[in-house]
Formats: sequence, structure tokens, C-alpha cells
Amino acid sequence: MERCPFENELILVSNRGPISYTRGEDGELKTVRGGGGLVTALLGVAASCEITWIASAMTPEDTEISIRAGGGSTKVTHDEHRLGLRFVVSDPEVYNKFYNIIANPLIWFIQHYLWDLSVVPDIRHNEFEAWENGYQVVNREFADAVCDELDARGNERPVVMLHDYHLYTCPSLVRERHPEAFLHQFVHIPWPQSDSWRVLPRHIRQAIVRGLLANDIVAFHTQRYVRNFLVSCEELIGAEVEVDFAHSVVIVAGRKVWARAYPISIDCADFERLAESESVLEEERYIEALRREYLVLRVDRMDLSKNIVRGFKAFDMFLDAHPEFKQRITFLALLQPSRGDVKEYNIYREQIMREVEVINTKHGTTNWMPIDVRMQDNFMRSVAAYKQFDVLMVNAIYDGMNLIAKEAGLINRHDGVLILSENTGAHEELGEYCLSVNPFDLESQAEAIYQALVMEQDEKSHRAGMIRDTVKHNDIQKWIETQFVDIKAKISEKTQAG
Ligand code: F6P
Repeated sequence: MERCPFENELILVSNRGPISYTRGEDGELKTVRGGGGLVTALLGVAASCEITWIASAMTPEDTEISIRAGGGSTKVTHDEHRLGLRFVVSDPEVYNKFYNIIANPLIWFIQHYLWDLSVVPDIRHNEFEAWENGYQVVNREFADAVCDELDARGNERPVVMLHDYHLYTCPSLVRERHPEAFLHQFVHIPWPQSDSWRVLPRHIRQAIVRGLLANDIVAFHTQRYVRNFLVSCEELIGAEVEVDFAHSVVIVAGRKVWARAYPISIDCADFERLAESESVLEEERYIEALRREYLVLRVDRMDLSKNIVRGFKAFDMFLDAHPEFKQRITFLALLQPSRGDVKEYNIYREQIMREVEVINTKHGTTNWMPIDVRMQDNFMRSVAAYKQFDVLMVNAIYDGMNLIAKEAGLINRHDGVLILSENTGAHEELGEYCLSVNPFDLESQAEAIYQALVMEQDEKSHRAGMIRDTVKHNDIQKWIETQFVDIKAKISEKTQAG
């Protein structure tokens, strides 16, 4: 892999950091790895570069570490990588407005098309207030931290890589104070069609687009999101920008902003090693004990965008149509609890459990439960189940990428068949080798389960092999390197432009 071209000069910025601190029963501070695909991918950057990572303090112990460091960064070792870590400490009330009212659900729901617009959302004082005194405040605090780090480096001009929908307005605040800064932002979730943003009052949606355009490069997982972003710039702040669709460039206040697609992936070698680790092998024995002849699997953060209820409804229809599979099949759903302070997530959790109960009562017997749901955060168990599935259900309504499809496809040992929603970013790469489904079409999902189970062995093994090869070819190193190449090119474009 190409060494990082920005020696000592890479600043990563994201809401969730690589590690968080807690206190063990012995009273000693211990670290916990941050969850989610973003952290996994960015730790890959830490393997090739010296970085400083700025992230929100998520626990009282993170705040304690920040106070010890005088609010600045501190050196830590994580997974053999040495990195600088700086926590942004926000007032809990402010953070609540930022995370639980604006980022999730408001922005997240817009970007995943989750609002039922005939009834929600209502934008009231509560939301306006949360925007001003929550989202904007946290973005300002992040901007302060970034500027502090830039000030400390003087003329070194580090590259700043911001991440995700939590930090849309941060770049403009940095740009005001550091016009020369190199800012790159990766949006890890879908960028929807421009009209979706009209749910938000004008000043908010415009602040989001302007904030992103303060970057030098705005990055997405797919070309579809890039196109949607370019159209959004034209539609939402058209008078201020010139959009060059042919070159994916937005010209704003004399600056050229590149919009680019880099499909995120996983560290294949690392993941394959993990799949053979003792803790995964132990979990595999657990999965073997609970499975029957066929295992249908889904592994998801418990999020509305993942379409969990419809997946179960499709399984119900499959059992109706093919009772010969009863007793021989288990649908195992490993669901990681998420965003428990957001009302919509709690309602969704109840819907899931209700649906499972209905289906299990309808089809189950005293010794067979068709759907087995585990609501827990047990990564090793998920990895073990990846190795064992016959059918993997990834039917997300919309999903920026979906790394489960890549992780599970890489290490599955059963020539398992991937059922993949056409609205996931992963579909651009894996669409040819999966059974592609429309996430709203229950018939096609039920039929896909059946097709996967009766598929000829040769075809299954061909498809599984192609998925493995594709993931290996486009692994995390490629994701990082292609961005580094573009960052270098953009830096030289800026230098030439003076
Ligand atoms: O890509 C979206 C993302 O930021 C991923 O890192 C992760 O899967 C998820 O959202 C995590 O969300 P949260 O930080 O709210 O748990």
C-alpha cells in the first residue's frame, strides 16, 4: 500500500471516535472500540499514516481524558496503531439536541427517505432551537478543535478529513478562519434527491449545502450519490454556484469543489484473520448448535433504514408458499441495539418484536421457532454467523454502502447466497452476483429466499466466488489510496491556482 503522502499531517474528524473510555470494576480506565463501519474503515487510515483523530467525548471517562489533556490531544495506542486523540466535550443537553433531534432522526431520515411526509416530521420551535443550540453549537466546537490543531501546526498545512452527516456545517466555520486549509469530507450515508432536502426550512438546508461546499473534496460511496449532490447544489443554492456535471465540480466563490465517489470497503486480510480467531470459533460452535439444515441470516444495527420488519414479512410469505421448509430452516437475526434515546427507534424495536411473535406463533411448533432474534452487540457472534449462512438477507430501504454484505460475503464457508437491496451502495459492486431485490416488494424477497435455497451448487459457488473476488479487489486499501491520489491532485490544482 502507498504510504500516506501527508506524513504527520492528517487530521480525522468524526462524531464517533476510534475508542472510548470506561472504568472497569477494578476502577481502572479501559478502552472500548467505537462501533460502526466508519470507525473500522478509518482505523485502516491510521495503519498507514500518523493521524490525530478528533471525536465527541461519549462517556464521562472520555471527558476525564480530555480534561487531563488540557482539552487538547493525547497520544494513545490502539490495535498497535499510535494515534493522537482529541475529544470534543459538549454539554449533554446540547449534545442531545445535536444527536437525538437533528442528526438522528431529522437528517438521517431525510437521507434514507424514511419520513412518512403525510404526517411527519413537524418542524417546530423544538427543531429550530435544536438546530441553533445543538447541531450548530457542536459543529462550532468541532471547528474550534480543528482550528486549534491547525494553529498548532503553523505552516505545515495538514489535510483535514471530516466524516459524515453530524458535521455538515463545521467546514465553513474552519474555512472562515483558515482559508488555506485543505478540507475533505466523506458522507457515509446516501445523498438523496434534492427535493428530499425541502423537508428542512430554507436556511437549514442551505447551511448544510454551503457547509459541505467549504470543503475541497466532498466524497460519497457511489456515483448515484455524487449526481444527487451536484443536482442538490444547483437546486438548493443555484444562484451562488456553477455546477460542472461533466467534471463533477462545483464552483463556489471562485473555489473549485470536487465531488467524488469512493466505495468504502473492509480490511480483507484482517477480517480473514479475525474469522479464524479463537473467539469466533467458539461462537461458531454456538451457531452450529442453534441452526437447522438451512440458515437465513441478517445482521444489522437496529435501524429503520435496514427494513427488518419487511424482511420478516417476506420470510412469513416464503413459509406460506413453501411449507416443505418448515422445521428445516431458521431465520437468525442479530440486531445491535442503536440510538435508544430516539423515539422512532424504540417504536421500531417494538414493531420488530410484534412481527416476530406473530410469525413464530403462526408457523412455529413446540420444538421449532422460525425466527430467532438476538438483540445484542456481539461482534464475534456476527462474524461466526457470517461463516455459516446459506442465505444472507440485506434488504435495506436505503443504505450508504452496507459493509455486512462485504464482510459476510468474504468469509462465508457455505457458498451462501446474498439477497441484496438495489438501494444499497454495495449493489453497484455486487449487484451482478446477488439476488437483487426491491426492498418494498415482499413477493420478490420471499421468492429470492426460495431461489437461494434451491439454487444449483455450481451457480451458488460461482456467485459466492465472484463476491469474494470483488470484495478482495476493492478492499479498504483501494478506498484509502484512491482518496490520497485525488487529495494530492487537488492540492496541486490549488497550488497552481495560487
Ligand atoms: O455511516 C453511518 C454511521 O456513521 C456508521 O459509522 C455507523 O454504521 C452508524 O452510522 C453509527 O451510528 P451511531 O454513531 O449513531 O451509532
